Amino acid sequence: PQVVAFRGAHQAGVDTAAQDRLAFAAFDVVPGSSRADLVALLTTWTAAAEAMAAGQPVPGNNDDQNSPPADTGEAFDLAPGNLTVTVGFGPGLFDGRFGLAGRKPAELAVLPTLPGDTLDPTISGGDLAIQACSEDPQVAFHAVRNLARLGRGTVVTRWTQLGFGRTSSTSTAQATPRNLMGFKDGTRNLKVEDPAAMNRSVWIAPGDVPGGASWLAGGSFLVSRRIRMILETWDRDVLSDQENVFGRSKSAGAPLSGGDEFTPPDFTKTLATGLPAIPLDAHMRLAAPENNNGTAILRRSYSFTDGVDPTTGMLDAGLFFIAFMRSPTQFTTLQTQLGSHDALNEYIRHTSSALFACPPGVAPGNAGDYWGRALL
Ligand code: HEM
Repeated sequence: PQVVAFRGAHQAGVDTAAQDRLAFAAFDVVPGSSRADLVALLTTWTAAAEAMAAGQPVPGNNDDQNSPPADTGEAFDLAPGNLTVTVGFGPGLFDGRFGLAGRKPAELAVLPTLPGDTLDPTISGGDLAIQACSEDPQVAFHAVRNLARLGRGTVVTRWTQLGFGRTSSTSTAQATPRNLMGFKDGTRNLKVEDPAAMNRSVWIAPGDVPGGASWLAGGSFLVSRRIRMILETWDRDVLSDQENVFGRSKSAGAPLSGGDEFTPPDFTKTLATGLPAIPLDAHMRLAAPENNNGTAILRRSYSFTDGVDPTTGMLDAGLFFIAFMRSPTQFTTLQTQLGSHDALNEYIRHTSSALFACPPGVAPGNAGDYWGRALL
């Protein structure tokens, strides 16, 4: 139960029930690297990720007294805790350095500037990404650290993000966790037990990626957004307003139109005052598929805290938003709505943004397969 299969039609870490801990890293390819270097990198990374997911050390010499061990060692005695390691390719990989321009999926481009963006470019973007998730934070960090180490000479780490608690349920078997604002998060998320919804909204179909981009069929787009919460302001807001911001009750997570957590929201219901029960600027109303032509995404986000903001003395904490989708347009559609109208905007700032194309899974029973082989 503690081991998630590494191989399959899709990469693990997308439709895996969200683990509790995250280590995420974005990398840039070092100038002067070749396509052969990329192939070597992805071959090595695949073998190491597969071993680590099975609870084994990074392959190589781990007991020679006269050389540094292949594995850094901090996960030796730990269970993998459902470790998944997921790779993504950024738009920069297709800029001509590796002769891959003709293989670029049309939609893999830096996300446009969206309403309310306050992005820091140094913690945005990247040529490659690794998402490591586990129930154990040290196991997740170990995976990212060892891949960064194996990549030395070909990639440099551009930015990293740790997440200390999942803020999404992605499986009907999971209880809904709470985000740092104290609200249940993930109630109406896509659930991996619904393959029709996963095919409609998460997995890239062959017809989505014609021609040179066909290598991406069976994959998914990953959008990451580091969203700082202005917690000191939020914590001074009265409960009724907090509930109006999301359109849900804080304790039970029920829609303000009534019922319990899983009662479908009634966006038409009005109060005795004549006002809508779920306010027009409520996060849940603006993000709901009913109000976005059916647009849905698989949210797989984590809470973070990165110390104190030196300019204000306030906590630099929030939600590291990760979502998987069939087309980045799903995110830009929702965020265009939210960025302009969401009552939540008073309490959040988007500080980083990235888009990666996650290739399909490594084929079972094919020893020579590696992440992105159909691309390279
Ligand atoms: C729903 C929190 C950012 C998309 C929710 C819910 C909460 C929440 C509490 C209601 C429970 C649920 O169904 O999961 C937050 C917080 C955010 C944030 C604290 C930032 C710090 C975003 C962003 C997007 C997004 C950036 C996408 C652009 C959605 C969607 C739903 C949702 C699609 C489900 C709506 C529905 O079907 O009812 N969010 N969210 N959220 N959120 Fe967010």
